Amino acid sequence: MAPIGRPTQPKLSTGHFAMVKITYIDSAGTARTVEGEAGSTVMETAINHSVPEIEAECGGACACSTCHVYVDEAWREKVGEPSPMEEDMLDFAFEVRPNSRLSCQIKVRDDLDGLVVTTPSRQA
Ligand code: FES
Repeated sequence: MAPIGRPTQPKLSTGHFAMVKITYIDSAGTARTVEGEAGSTVMETAINHSVPEIEAECGGACACSTCHVYVDEAWREKVGEPSPMEEDMLDFAFEVRPNSRLSCQIKVRDDLDGLVVTTPSRQA
């Protein structure tokens, strides 16, 4: 098993939605690892598991920035960069950093199994 925070090799497709482990670290440093379904989003996974510090006021429409997370550096390349629309919305987020993303814009995929994100101390 890969150590926490390190990307793993892609899994072979089995033809069904895999469960993908995502670890959310809150602003106080408490880590919660939950399973998300490939095809959903990192925001939806957080809401479904009552992960704190993700509000998602717009329901995933990229119109509120209250689902802001920091992507762990080891995962930044694999997660990818925000779209121009997401970048515009990130301007309204609290304490934006180079690894900031809106979690509603990150699709859960098999190759993100083990993803680690941290939530800011407050949302916009
Ligand atoms: S939930 Fe509103 S921008 Fe992500």
